[in-house]
Amino acid sequence: MNKIKKLAFGNDHAAAEVRNTVKEYLTSIGYEIEDFGFEGEGVCDYPDYAVKVAEAVLHGKAEKGILICGTGIGMCISANKVHGIIAAPCWDEDTAALAAQHNRADILCLGSRKATVSELCHRIRIWLETSFEARHEARILKIKEIEKRQ
Ligand code: RB5
Repeated sequence: MNKIKKLAFGNDHAAAEVRNTVKEYLTSIGYEIEDFGFEGEGVCDYPDYAVKVAEAVLHGKAEKGILICGTGIGMCISANKVHGIIAAPCWDEDTAALAAQHNRADILCLGSRKATVSELCHRIRIWLETSFEARHEARILKIKEIEKRQ
């Protein structure tokens, strides 16, 4: 049984084609999705979607967040601007697991132009099902200290 239930989801235009498949997959394995993503035609700006997902997680409207743009990079940079949020990039199964295990990432950022939709789904599932290792806690606290100094 999944421990986390509610996920905030966001995407930009680069992930408009994969968004529904990813959401349907996550729903099929038991997650509830709050969708903040772009579903129109044309283009949009990824920071607008990253901030919605990051603030939803920060304020407890969702337990974790998923952001997908072309590379995952712009979403990751933007989400990390929200103090209190740790967003991690992910480019394979290993970094999906490590983002949970070592970094306790609140949000996983993925690139739709860098993976197939089934790879994206698989990586998200690995991240969701991997536990944080407490031995990394001191490093996370140091990240929070950096935020307090700003
Ligand atoms: C949009 O073309 C692209 O720049 C965006 O999806 C993302 O990859 C940015 O990091």
